[in-house]
Amino acid sequence: MSQSLQQITLTRPDDWHLHLRDGAAMAAVAPYSARQFHRAIIMPNLRPPVTTTAQALAYRRRILDALPADSNFQPLMTLYLTDNTTAEEVRRARDSGHVHAVKLYPAGATTNSDAGVTDPGKVDDTLAAMAEIGLPLLVHGEMTRDDIDVFDREKAFIDHQLAPLTERHPDLRVVFEHITTRDAVEFVHDSGPNVAATLTPQHLLFNRNAMLVGGMHPHFYCLPVLKRESHRQALIAAATSGNPKFFLGTDSAPHAKDAKESACGCAGIFSAHAAIELYATAFEQAGALNRLEGFASHFGADFYGLPRNKEQVTLVRQDWQVPDTLPFADTRGEAPLVPFLAGEALHWKLQP
Ligand code: DOR
Ligand code: ZN
Repeated sequence: MSQSLQQITLTRPDDWHLHLRDGAAMAAVAPYSARQFHRAIIMPNLRPPVTTTAQALAYRRRILDALPADSNFQPLMTLYLTDNTTAEEVRRARDSGHVHAVKLYPAGATTNSDAGVTDPGKVDDTLAAMAEIGLPLLVHGEMTRDDIDVFDREKAFIDHQLAPLTERHPDLRVVFEHITTRDAVEFVHDSGPNVAATLTPQHLLFNRNAMLVGGMHPHFYCLPVLKRESHRQALIAAATSGNPKFFLGTDSAPHAKDAKESACGCAGIFSAHAAIELYATAFEQAGALNRLEGFASHFGADFYGLPRNKEQVTLVRQDWQVPDTLPFADTRGEAPLVPFLAGEALHWKLQP
């Protein structure tokens, strides 16, 4: 990595947590990720969810077909874990060569999680098979019981579900996705080398005031929700520490403008239009631009046992304005998408 006050050149990054959707929505958003990243771990929370290897392979083909012809972007597929996912299915997934992880959504935790796991204890045989074949488990770390405050759900998940799970399966590789609290940073830090975490740009750049002060700002609403400033500081410290357990995963999750700006707005922030620029902004604020490359381009590949990318990308210091909306379409037809930080100025720009 080379870095001056005006320019940063780094190994092309990968996105270890991405929602690409399907159909017209996917065609609208996939090029933004492909422009920045070489690879991405693709979330399986479609409707219906991607629960089998056959579905994952078909979805991979649709993604490749939706990309620009000259794109070299590699979608790394995942399976959606249900109470009924068998050990045989995860073995088949591993043998396909294209499924790189299995995603655990606690039932009801977030968008399209109804078919998720009702109790991690029910899938122990499948988790044991994953540990044996080296297929990582990705967790949406929130405990969804009605009596648990939404701001406490990550800690409750650690205490009641994740810590026992990693004790039962000490060799299982686990990625604690989009962590939002100091508790999660400490859990990952104190766990063995088989436990890592991804961090989103929104959780590094903002605390919950951005969502709730001066009105309700739906374009800052995602799950897990933004937390208080002391948690954000713990996340920044982890991301910029150089510890390879913490790496980039945008959780970019597009929803049409009207689905966000609604009496019951959807959770999810679309950040793929400016992902690496947003991370550069967060790292620069922390005085740690020299740590960006490890976080964005090395540590995730190392954890997944994949080669680091060979290509490089360059960011230049240049003011530009994020568009107010981007063209998008969902199952209802065309509808604009509001990108993260719409209308705001960013000071780093990825070179074409
Ligand atoms: O905010 C979120 N949006 N969190 C998730 O876990 C899912 C995602 C989505 O699919 O929209
Ligand atoms: Zn996600």
